Amino acid sequence: MSDLASLEQRALTELQATADEAALRAWNTKYFGKQGEVTLALRKVGEVPPAERKAYGQEANRIKEALTNAYEAKLAGQKERQLKQSLAAEAIDVTLPGRPLIRGRLHPSTQTLRTIGSIFADLGFQIYRSREVEDDLTNFELLNMPPHHPARDMWDTFHTTTPGVLLRTHTSPGQIHVMREYCPRPIRVILPGMCYRYEAITVRSEIMFNQVEGLAIGTNVTMADQNGTITAFARRMFGEDRQVRIRSSYFPFTEPSIEVDMDCSNCAGKGCGLCKRSGWLEIMGAGMVHPTVLKNGGYDPYTVSGFAFGMGPERIAMRKFGIDDIRQFWANDLRFLRQF
Ligand code: PHE
Repeated sequence: MSDLASLEQRALTELQATADEAALRAWNTKYFGKQGEVTLALRKVGEVPPAERKAYGQEANRIKEALTNAYEAKLAGQKERQLKQSLAAEAIDVTLPGRPLIRGRLHPSTQTLRTIGSIFADLGFQIYRSREVEDDLTNFELLNMPPHHPARDMWDTFHTTTPGVLLRTHTSPGQIHVMREYCPRPIRVILPGMCYRYEAITVRSEIMFNQVEGLAIGTNVTMADQNGTITAFARRMFGEDRQVRIRSSYFPFTEPSIEVDMDCSNCAGKGCGLCKRSGWLEIMGAGMVHPTVLKNGGYDPYTVSGFAFGMGPERIAMRKFGIDDIRQFWANDLRFLRQF
């Protein structure tokens, strides 16, 4: 019993003397570890003569509890002191302005696509998403280009290893998808998205690029509607005083077909490097939807008509921002991208 009393005294004195958490933990091991003094004292109960065993056991347990409480109180105090210290040392000035976040930005193609989308939205066109992996049927045949049609040469094609499955060379196959979904209702949509062509990459042509297709179908849709829509678009995109020039052209899926030029927004038609001294910039191909294509979409070419157009947003962005190399768009050069 006297051993127990001195053990308690010693343990308490040493506990008072501990200065930090490490010392506290060491103290805990010394008294309560596997070979700790309190642990051993408790284990000794069996050796105590039976007459004293009960009293010894009770006292040993009381000491164990008292020391454990004292230890935990001291540990808690220690932790609180540490917390106070670190709060004082690492005080946060909540009035400091935050660090600015580095924000990304939209790719110039995305910006251009959004501008085009909002202009056509104002003209009543909805956006229709169409697939990038197409079949030969939709990309060519239903657009009035049977196999071996020489016009297919206008679109050098990436074929997949599955016969008849290819990467769309233009957004025009989307016309078929929209028509088959909407028929017999009238249509006014644009179809933006990526197209792919097996071509040599140069300053002027890429193997992947965006197009925005437009399609309007209804009763009494005329070429005047087409020209008016395109002119309205060019003026919203490039400036109110833009002039639009329409040249006769050829596409298998439109008849008649046209190519649309706009007076150079850089030199106002006087002739400069951007328009190669011609004063004109080509902005899109277009035309009245071919009767065969209308039929393939489910429409009756004798009662409805429509116009379609297709343009390249990267080309448009090059014009708008004076970019001279189309390869910049997918080169992932931040020095280029950060300018937009
Ligand atoms: N699909 C044509 C091209 O890629 C563009 C076009 C679309 C022309 C719609 C006329 C009508 O060149």
